[in-house]
Amino acid sequence: MKEFQYAAVKEEFEQWKAQGLSLNMDRGKPCLEQLELSRGLLNALDFDDCVADGVDARNYGELAGMPCARRYWAEVLDVTPEQCFVGGSSSLNMMYDLVAKAWTNGLLHSEKPWSQEEKVKFLCPVPGYDRHFRVTESFGIELIPVQCDGSGPDMDQVEQLVKDPQVKGIWCVPKYSNPDGFIYSSEVMDRIASLKPAAPDFVVIWDNAYCVHEIRGGYVPFPDILKICAEKGNPDLVIEFASTSKITLPGAGMAVMAASEANIKHLSKLMGAQMISCDKLNQLRQVRFLKDKAHTLELMQKHAAILAPRFDAFLKELDAEIKPLNIARWTDPKGGYFISLYTAPGCAKRTVALCKEAGLVMTAAGAAYPYGNDPEDSHIRIAPSFPALKDVEMAAKVFCTCLKLATLEKQGK
Ligand SMILES: Cc1ncc(COP(=O)(O)O)c(C=O)c1O
Repeated sequence: MKEFQYAAVKEEFEQWKAQGLSLNMDRGKPCLEQLELSRGLLNALDFDDCVADGVDARNYGELAGMPCARRYWAEVLDVTPEQCFVGGSSSLNMMYDLVAKAWTNGLLHSEKPWSQEEKVKFLCPVPGYDRHFRVTESFGIELIPVQCDGSGPDMDQVEQLVKDPQVKGIWCVPKYSNPDGFIYSSEVMDRIASLKPAAPDFVVIWDNAYCVHEIRGGYVPFPDILKICAEKGNPDLVIEFASTSKITLPGAGMAVMAASEANIKHLSKLMGAQMISCDKLNQLRQVRFLKDKAHTLELMQKHAAILAPRFDAFLKELDAEIKPLNIARWTDPKGGYFISLYTAPGCAKRTVALCKEAGLVMTAAGAAYPYGNDPEDSHIRIAPSFPALKDVEMAAKVFCTCLKLATLEKQGK
């Protein structure tokens, strides 16, 4: 460990600055080696072999997706094919579309479209995924933060808040939550599935973006929330999403919405007004390439072998340089794309600003909170996936220097 004295740390910082670095740990994107794993994707389909289950992927039809794609997702998510609506390439787009449909038409149990409500509020477990929050914010929906711990959102708080009929939903990333990397406990899942919200059309947006995305260790099975909801007498409460963005190619993957058959029917009817069918060629190509869940999990182990050293490199530096000082805590995720780090209160923004000065771009401090407002100014999201391993190692060193300097400045030393 290096010295923890203002003059020495400042000197170290100036040395980084002088190097004119250009490092970026901003967004959770797969790296080039990961993209290489999908090299076969573009050749997985032949023009003369585009019919599956009697459906010609080259033509209109099958609004809810290729039957083989619906079966693929049913196996991955442990639901039924009838509960799967396979869409385009982006699950975020499907989530946006769900909120838009609620806004313009209403959900299955809505008394009126949300746009006609005096006010709509949404629960946002924090820290969370900034793009989720932006979706709801863009409709003028009020965002209410809900504290999270290692087992998921604070359910006492959620159960209290859903008594307000203006509270219409909650964002959830149940497995390897973005950014903490936590997996919701079965108790939290049971309590979510048992919610009795005042709003009849309250929706749990269950974004299972990291459903097969282990970094270390084998696949962690995950219960089917739709089944739990049905058992609790709440079959239409949850709408689940996932995609192959971080299985094959981001932006060119295959997204799915899984929900009760009643929800799928209601939403299909609304979607029928906006399109005839999605890109089934892409769906067929993805399924031909990924085959089934077992084959997908094999591919995910290859992703893990590329990602794990990057996570390890960052965590190793934090352990060596920060742990002995006791000036921050961080998560040690087994999957997903992020590490969450918590500085002493009031040090996150300054740390990220110092990183920028030293040539290292980090996600804006506070981004994981509604309206970008982390009341403690303590959280920083670290995304080690994209840079080359040697750059992650370098970035970790720069980051530790900046974190120390920000902390010393705050302590007035
Ligand atoms: C939690 C979560 N949901 C959704 C997405 C985006 O998914 P897609 O590419 O399917 O739109 C991301 C991407 O980082 C994410 O972290």
